[in-house]
Amino acid sequence: MPNDVPVPANLRDLNVRTAWNDAGGAARARELFTTSFGGVPEGVWAAPGRVNIVGEHTDYNGGLALPIALPHRTFVAVSPRTDRVLRLVSSVADGVVEVDLDAVGPAGTPAEVRGWPSYVAGVGWALEQAGLASALPGLDVAVVSCVPTGSGLSSSAALECSVAVAWDELAGLGLAGRAAAPSDPGRSRLVEACVRAENDIAGAPTGGMDQAASLRARAGHALLLDCRDGGAEHVPFDLAASGLELLVIDTRAEHSHAGGEYGQRRATCEAAVRLLAAPDLRAVADATRAGQTSLEDVLPRLADDEQRRRVRHVVTEIDRVRALVHLLRDESDDRLRGRSLDEAGRLLNASHDSLREDYEVSSPELDLAVETARRTGAHGARMTGGGFGGSAIALVDDDAVETVIRAVDDAFDGAGLRAPGFLRAVASPPAGRVG
Ligand code: GLA
Repeated sequence: MPNDVPVPANLRDLNVRTAWNDAGGAARARELFTTSFGGVPEGVWAAPGRVNIVGEHTDYNGGLALPIALPHRTFVAVSPRTDRVLRLVSSVADGVVEVDLDAVGPAGTPAEVRGWPSYVAGVGWALEQAGLASALPGLDVAVVSCVPTGSGLSSSAALECSVAVAWDELAGLGLAGRAAAPSDPGRSRLVEACVRAENDIAGAPTGGMDQAASLRARAGHALLLDCRDGGAEHVPFDLAASGLELLVIDTRAEHSHAGGEYGQRRATCEAAVRLLAAPDLRAVADATRAGQTSLEDVLPRLADDEQRRRVRHVVTEIDRVRALVHLLRDESDDRLRGRSLDEAGRLLNASHDSLREDYEVSSPELDLAVETARRTGAHGARMTGGGFGGSAIALVDDDAVETVIRAVDDAFDGAGLRAPGFLRAVASPPAGRVG
């Protein structure tokens, strides 16, 4: 395909995942559309996967998170139909799937939509449920993607959000606008619809970070998300200016959020909140920060050691987001250099250790990736996303990227694990029309 961003020659023997650029992704989506449905699509829309810098398992606790949009995107070539039928095809699934928009119902009911089509149908269902659209048109949709699936990099949110911006434009909803402003009510409504699609129709009880990153991020910036009120700020995130890179290590140990562990973490936090008679764990984090209480006061009021460790993770993780944002906002020449860089690395490491020990969502593969990256030169490294497999990130000097990649690859080989994948993460633009 024309115009893909090439992998540097010295890394071609490794599993480095290229990000398609918009022209290359749109061409692939159009081709799949034409071979599947005939004719040409009305347009092509794309939405990015995301990687979270810090602030894990905080979103459903009303906390703070700090994701960036990846350069890796899902592309959908779409034409509207005159009926209420979805015809869906994906480059990684067999055949054309048809879904009747009038027969879509929640996961676990007889009307549930199974598998990946639920993410598409769910967006339409949620837009209508929220009163943002009435009787959306059916669509013919061809999906291609360079966001790795099952890697904790939000391939499902990328699919939802690409479909959301397509439907938004084709049905004239006027919610997506041209670009993401920090306080963008239209895009926030689309985020909510995509979250409902995932929660209610796909049946995965996730928070809202992934969809917000995909729809509200900004190139060159991290997205500081306030998950209590939906507020967002764009924080400068230009690592290259500090001679750094963010390396994503995809362990290829697959994760699934529809599985029970993620929901259990969420339920434990909700039980703790009830015991503390607090609105959410964000309130606990804010109160400890303001000196009104402390973890020493709060933790003994919880039911058991498990609750105590979960709460300690969430409260300290929210603090780590604030601390990293403070470092990123430094406008002096010291930003992410010297002590500032050491501190940023320390925050990432502390996040991982807390997720491993207190929240218990890491895995042997994630720990191996993190430990190897730290040992071979990363300033800091942590698992990212929901955990139980998926991906890790490492903050690395740009001239040490190859060393770290090779060391992690060797370590996985030595442990008899599948060869990991690598992505070079640059803060990229949000969902929108690309062709
Ligand atoms: C998954 C979920 C998000 C968030 C993260 C953990 O990615 O989809 O909503 O909860 O896990 O931070």
